Amino acid sequence: MQVKVVIGTIAFMLTMMIMGFAALREPARLQEFTHAYQGRSIESGAKIFKNNCSTCHGVDGKAELCYDTAGEQIGCRGLPLNYAPLLCGDSADRTQRMNAMNWAGTKDAFIQSVVAAGRAGTAMPTWSAQFGGPMRDDEIANVVAFVMNWESEELCSAPVITFDWPATAEAFLAEFPDGDAANGEGLFVTYGCSGCHGVPDGSVAAAVGPDLSNITVDGATRVEGYTAEMYVYESVLHPNAVIAPNCPTGPCLGPPSAMPANFIERMATNPQDLADIMAYLLGK
Ligand code: HEC
Ligand code: HEC
Repeated sequence: MQVKVVIGTIAFMLTMMIMGFAALREPARLQEFTHAYQGRSIESGAKIFKNNCSTCHGVDGKAELCYDTAGEQIGCRGLPLNYAPLLCGDSADRTQRMNAMNWAGTKDAFIQSVVAAGRAGTAMPTWSAQFGGPMRDDEIANVVAFVMNWESEELCSAPVITFDWPATAEAFLAEFPDGDAANGEGLFVTYGCSGCHGVPDGSVAAAVGPDLSNITVDGATRVEGYTAEMYVYESVLHPNAVIAPNCPTGPCLGPPSAMPANFIERMATNPQDLADIMAYLLGK
């Protein structure tokens, strides 16, 4: 009798231990499954990005290096996406870009909605089949997962470089007197200026923004009291401050200007870039 009770108790305890162990493993198993699923989603998102998005948003989503389908380097027309102001914030779901665009929902939904619906009045196309675009919902979800996956310790902990842009071009050029026009010519392409403005030597016609080949003269006439330097300086940093009169397809619209307003942030990590672009455009 005693022996049976002991054996029974041991058997019961063993059963409980095995069941308990299985129960303990369950969340880990679920997590592994979720990770594998997310991994596959990000992987297929990477392919979608390379084939559909990198022409405008660049290799690695940095909007620095863009190539057309033939492999020729072209100007990046999209905003950087592998980019702290889009992906990092004071809290996981509040980022600078969401604030700037007055977005009240989550970060995931912010990115998803721009990808699905595009952004009216800009070069950002509509992708979701729901709005007449070429992609299914699962493809949108995958490419969004891929973009979100750029959020990293490294990206988000890098010191935020805040350059205090001087109020006037004169003060700026006093700080950065050595503009390199040859380097500015390259930057004019890599920042995407040429994608909209064409190339001022006439080799590529302006498509979206004004032709800038005569900006040394025109720039000095736009705002009373402004030099061409001051006008170009302000045009790049604050595109909405003054709207140019003539665009290639008719009168320029705005504000809001069709010119991206975030060069002020993108160039803050390297203000010399603007000095170089000004040297290129203004021939000094
Ligand atoms: C033809 C060029 C072009 C292509 C292709 C393109 N985009 Fe864009 N995208 C843009 C432009 C331009 C903007 C900025 C619009 C604006 O000024 O607000 C933008 C904005 C965005 C934004 C919002 C960024 C922000 O900070 O507000 C996201 C996210 C985005 N694109 C994702 C994608 C994804 C994902 C793809 C591929 C499925 C893609 N884009 C393809 C041009 C493009
Ligand atoms: C997405 C298209 C686009 C990109 C990219 C772009 N611009 Fe513009 N730009 C415009 C449009 C449209 C205007 C006219 C509306 C306005 O004045 O804001 C304009 C206006 C200007 C003007 C004033 C032109 C005039 O005739 O008064 C200058 C100067 C200028 N941009 C320089 C630049 C530089 C430099 C870059 C790159 C760092 C750049 N833009 C990038 C579209 C663009």
